[in-house]
Order: sequence, then structure tokens, then C-alpha cells
Amino acid sequence: MEIVVSGIRSTGNLHLGNYFGALRNFTRMQHENKCFFFIADYHSLTTHPTPSNLHENVRQVLAEYLACGIDPDVATIYLQSDVPEVTELYLLLNMIAYKGELERTTTFKEKVRNQPDNVNAGLLTYPVLMAADIIIHKANRVPVGKDQEPHLEITRKFARRFNNMYGTGFFPEPEAYNFGEKLVKIPGLDGTGKMGKSEGNGIFLSDDDKTIRKKVMRAVTDSGPTEPDQKVAEPIKNLFTIMQFVSDPATVKHFKEQYAACTIRYGDLKKQLAEDLVSFVAPIRESIAGISADRDYLRKVVRRGEEKARESASKTISDVRRIIGFKPF
Ligand code: TYM
Repeated sequence: MEIVVSGIRSTGNLHLGNYFGALRNFTRMQHENKCFFFIADYHSLTTHPTPSNLHENVRQVLAEYLACGIDPDVATIYLQSDVPEVTELYLLLNMIAYKGELERTTTFKEKVRNQPDNVNAGLLTYPVLMAADIIIHKANRVPVGKDQEPHLEITRKFARRFNNMYGTGFFPEPEAYNFGEKLVKIPGLDGTGKMGKSEGNGIFLSDDDKTIRKKVMRAVTDSGPTEPDQKVAEPIKNLFTIMQFVSDPATVKHFKEQYAACTIRYGDLKKQLAEDLVSFVAPIRESIAGISADRDYLRKVVRRGEEKARESASKTISDVRRIIGFKPF
């Protein structure tokens, strides 16, 4: 049995990228492994420092997480800020993390470009906190989308460095987990880049049918193929990619063949994609609504999760303190 840790920032509603990148196999995963699923509310402060919606966002993501099939009686689901052992490990890992390597992380450079007026130290040490999240449970597996590969690479580096520095094999080097499939990057509907929470290019698990249809019908396309079998242009390739996740293989094949034959009508493609997305999202959305209305249930889930997560985390932290050389007087 492997130990799995999965995290998600509480910076807004979850979208299809989150779902297919990290959450879709939860139901199965939790029965085959020891799973820790958490909400990275501390991480959200690196980009969203406002207190006004912090709690609401956490509650929403918690309900969405659960709606994706997590059973809190089987897996452990908790808030990062409920487990102080994580921040202790973060501090200790900061002593073996180097400024240069953190500055070179692609995700850091990207964030600096996105928010030049708020290049806080939390942003720089984001991967250190993420490494602490993962190795606090001595995880071997981390379900993530493609964009998180650099963070996993650096997590392995810290685990290895800790082991070498203290002459121990204490921490495993965790690997990404996608059930043998390649790591996923779900594109946005704007013709470029990946689907994101704040890029305005996403389909959210909480979107209603009308919103989904409207978003898909507005998705960026081009003027259409002009030669048979030409290379599929970026915005259309993106629509095909999304389709591969929510539509029948026969449907994807049908539209790809039409593209190759230059007979494709983007309006038809979008209508079909919109309907398939509606069928996919609707049951999840309904489940989110039911769960998020039940505050008592959410409270119980979080309390129980905190207990179980701290049990595992405090064991690791006391071992780590001993390995580093802290001794009781
Ligand atoms: P976050 O909240 O940005 O994303 C959560 C998960 O969703 C995946 N994801 C995507 N996958 C495919 N296509 C997309 N367009 C897409 N957008 C998002 C992400 O890869 C991620 O798996 N740093 C993490 C949060 C975190 C974490 C952790 C994750 C903190 N500590 C420990 C795992 C383990 C993040 O930014 O998540």
C-alpha cells in the first residue's frame, strides 16, 4: 500500500483542469492506498492575501473535494492550517533549501511575472511548503497535473538532501501519480495556455448548464482547415483535448475526421462538446450543492481529518527532530 498526498489551493472554485489533473481517480485511489487529501489554505495567501473570502473559499473547495468522491471515513481530508507540524517541517526544510534553486523554479518565475508588486517570501518558498505537505506523511505518490512537475522534482531533491545530510533513508522520494497515464494538462477555452482558476478560461465543477453552454460557444476557434489532413491549429486542438476527457471516443473520432476532410463546422463541434460537458458536470455540481449546504457535516469532516492528519504528522515531526539532533533536556 502506498501513501498518497494530494493538495489543492483554496483560491477559487475547482475547474476541469483540477479534476482531470488531480482529482478524478480519488474514489478508486482511496481504497487502494493510504490517502491524505488537504486544502492548501496557507499556500493561497501567497497570491490571495485577503481575509474577506478565505473561509468561504476553503468551505467551497472542501465541498468540491468531497463531491469528487472522497470518503472521509476511508481517506483523511484536512486543512493545511489545521496541522502545525507541516509548518514546523517547512521551517526545518527552509534550512536546507537554497535561495538560488528556489529563484530558478519555473513556477516562481511565472508568479513574479504575474504579480510583480507582491513578490513575497512565501512565493519564493512555495515549493518548500509543498514539499513539507508531501513528506510530512512520508508519501510516495502525489496525484498532480503536469504543471506541478517542477514542484515534485524539488520535493524529491529536498527529501534526498535531508537523507544525505543526516545519513538516513527516512524520507521516500515521492513520484507523481496518474494511474499509469501521462500527466495531464487541460487547456483553457481561450485558445492558449492551461485552464486556470483566474484566467477566465475555465469550466468550473459548479457551473450551471447555461454557463457551460455559453462558455463553450464563445471558445476561441479559427477560420477552419483549408487543406486536407493539415496540422490541427492550437485552439481547435485544445477543444479536441477537452473532448477526449468528457466525450465518447467515437464522437472525438467523428470530429477529427471531419477536420481532416475540411468539412468540420465548429458550431456543431461546440454544441456537442457543450452537451457532453453539461452531462459530465451536472451530477458533480448537484453533489457540491448538497454537501456545501450541510455545515454540520463539513465541520465533522474537518475535525476528524485534523485528528487523523496530526496523528500521522506528529509522528514524522518527532522522528525528524530526533534525526536532526534536538533532544529533550
Ligand atoms: P492548484 O490548486 O493550482 O491545482 C490543484 C491540482 O490541479 C492541477 N491542475 C491542472 N491539471 C491539469 N490541467 C490544468 N489546467 C490544471 N490546473 C490545475 C494541478 O496540477 C494540481 O495537481 N501547488 C499545488 C497545491 C499543493 C499541493 C501540495 C499539491 C500544495 N501542496 C502537495 C500536491 C501535494 C497547486 O498549485 O494546486
